Amino acid sequence: MNLILMGAPGAGKGTQSEKISEKWGIPAISTGDILRAAIKAGTALGNTAKTYIDDGKLVPDEIVIGIIKEYLTSDACKNGFILDGFPRSIPQAEALAAMDVKIDAVLSIEVADEKIVERMSGRRVCTCGASYHVAFNPSKVEGVCDKCGAETYIRKDDAPETVIKRLETYHTQTEPLKAFYEAKGLLVTVEGQDEIADTTRLVFEALSQFSV
Ligand code: AP5
Repeated sequence: MNLILMGAPGAGKGTQSEKISEKWGIPAISTGDILRAAIKAGTALGNTAKTYIDDGKLVPDEIVIGIIKEYLTSDACKNGFILDGFPRSIPQAEALAAMDVKIDAVLSIEVADEKIVERMSGRRVCTCGASYHVAFNPSKVEGVCDKCGAETYIRKDDAPETVIKRLETYHTQTEPLKAFYEAKGLLVTVEGQDEIADTTRLVFEALSQFSV
């Protein structure tokens, strides 16, 4: 299964890609996580990416396309993969098509903008990649990651004013991809639910039509 996971910022792509990854044993590749790791490591790529991410904008296409090329040609992806957050623009989708990688499905998780703002304000994350929500998916001990015991924190780009900008970026640059993939017969949509488990059920149902 070679899957693209789409959705607005905070729609639950990271949350659901973890569930799909566990169920089907295929790796999830999150361009957001890769870029944040580069920022943390203080690399040149990370320093460039930071200016765009902090401003709610997309990192330039050539940077993320280069990253994805490297991952998709690695052994880890030979039995399938989930792309979480890539492609995010038409030029990125065209670059992916030119890589000659067969995509089986594009799953879009639909959540209204008002709900997104509520979700982002309660999100807490850990440097190990784990993600929580203070009300909908709390860690066992408040402020402490269940997986590695480190302190959880609020992502800088989850500030309400940046979330609004990220939503604008999503609607103008990323949402047109739905028509792009629908025209190829690959698009499947799922309504994001208030409970994470309910969304997971719908996601699994939607994906069951594909041979995995
Ligand atoms: P990225 O990290 O990909 O951010 P995003 O797309 O904005 O998505 P998020 O990670 O914020 O949210 P999510 O959909 O994964 O939701 P989550 O599961 O965490 O990218 C960050 C930045 O990097 C971008 O803004 C851009 O600058 C840059 N970038 C990345 N890829 C790029 C690309 N291809 N090209 C250019 N630039 C790129 O859930 C959110 C919260 O809600 C959590 O707290 C969760 O617990 C909770 N939650 C989830 N599901 C539910 C539910 N059903 N009910 C209640 N709560 C829920």
